[in-house]
Amino acid sequence: MIPLRFFRFIASSVAANPIKTNFKSEIKELNIDRKDFGHDFHWGVATASYQIEGAWNTDGKGESIWDRFTVNPKNVKDRTNGQVATDFYNRYESDLVLLKDLNFENFRFSFSWPRILPDGTGKVNEKGIDFYNRMIDKCLELGIEPWAMLYHWDLPQKLEDLGGWTNRDIIGWFSEYADLCTRMFGDRIQHWMVLNEPASFTTLGYLSGMHAPQKGGIAKFLAAVHHASLCQAEGGRIIRENVKESHIGTTFSCAYTEPQKRSGRYQRASERLDVMLNRLFIEPSLGMGYPYKELPFIRKIDQFIQPEDVENLKFDFDFIGIQNYFRVTSRPSLIPLIWANRVKPSANAEVTAMGWEVSPEGIYDIIMQFAKYGVKEIIVTENGAAFHDHLKKNGKIHDRQRIHFYQRYLQNVLRAKNDGAPVTGYFAWTFIDNFEWDEGTRPRFGLVYNDFKTQERIVKDSGFWFQQLLNKF
Ligand code: NOJ
Repeated sequence: MIPLRFFRFIASSVAANPIKTNFKSEIKELNIDRKDFGHDFHWGVATASYQIEGAWNTDGKGESIWDRFTVNPKNVKDRTNGQVATDFYNRYESDLVLLKDLNFENFRFSFSWPRILPDGTGKVNEKGIDFYNRMIDKCLELGIEPWAMLYHWDLPQKLEDLGGWTNRDIIGWFSEYADLCTRMFGDRIQHWMVLNEPASFTTLGYLSGMHAPQKGGIAKFLAAVHHASLCQAEGGRIIRENVKESHIGTTFSCAYTEPQKRSGRYQRASERLDVMLNRLFIEPSLGMGYPYKELPFIRKIDQFIQPEDVENLKFDFDFIGIQNYFRVTSRPSLIPLIWANRVKPSANAEVTAMGWEVSPEGIYDIIMQFAKYGVKEIIVTENGAAFHDHLKKNGKIHDRQRIHFYQRYLQNVLRAKNDGAPVTGYFAWTFIDNFEWDEGTRPRFGLVYNDFKTQERIVKDSGFWFQQLLNKF
């Protein structure tokens, strides 16, 4: 098994960052103007059910693998859990009003599979359907476009008890769920996404075991990868069948990889990481098969492939969602399996509270890499940063570093668009500080601060910065 340190950057101190507080002048200074992105560009924020909803056992919701994982507080760094999270289940109306006040026009959320189908299949939880109906209707009433994600990691525990993503039956379970969601909500939702970051949930959940459901080993990992790839395509087909004039995507975690030195061994290490981080899920969907060449152990996936799968892995997505936070420098290592290691950011590098290196040019490079596949549209479905936010006595949060982060990343998104990449949208991660998986509630990624004791929302300066940026043309 790959050591945990391979998957985790250790958080280190945040570099000081001298930028001005006058947001208008910063926009000018860094030359960011929403007009440059075009009238049709989709501006939004992204969220995920388990990270915000709370109401973990309310109104008939079933148990998810994250409910189970967090029962043991030791699994989460700060011993918190998502039982209440940001209480979006009860506060969705005021949150959506706030979102609209900040001038966002698009809201990405995910359906909680066990809220809709408590056992994963079979009996439908009408109260769960009602919740999403009310939430979607509120979006539409406010003039917010809902963007629905089918799966953002909260698998019903009942299905995990049967093997979860390692069991081929998940294709049928997932199809039933996707069919139900699209029939229930497809009359009001045009934009759909199938899977959130399959490389993350298969690697962290079924290889390293750092995330729910804490499984490990190559065979489990490869089975999960193949079944998720098949569901990725099958989900796309179901949406196309059930939703008229749909706009269908799926999302990939990605990070531009570079060798630490320009020698052959380093170059090859970088190519192997590139397969794991960026290529494993998009290439089969494009009909290119799994990328075996640079990473021969992937060939073991053949044991799970049935003849009809070769065709079934393909789906012609309308857009590809890329989710980027950092870039990766790699060097060869003695770790079996992939023989590559990520180099930690240097001591003077600017890093976020997650220990991730701030690398705005990295988002340009990775967008250009994905554009080479010739995909129809690329949407940045997640980008953002956790920093150590301080709530001042006057009730304000001056998160200049986050503003500066967004300015530089957006500049590079625009550069990629101007250089010919078909970028049509950008979603900030995330709207309100939430439950960051095994890290708990400590990392704050929000444009809005959440007091987890009182559930009070406080707009950070970065939220006001977006409000100004997105002010009507
Ligand atoms: C990726 C995931 O989709 C999201 O759930 C997570 O919170 C962010 N990245 C930040 O780590």
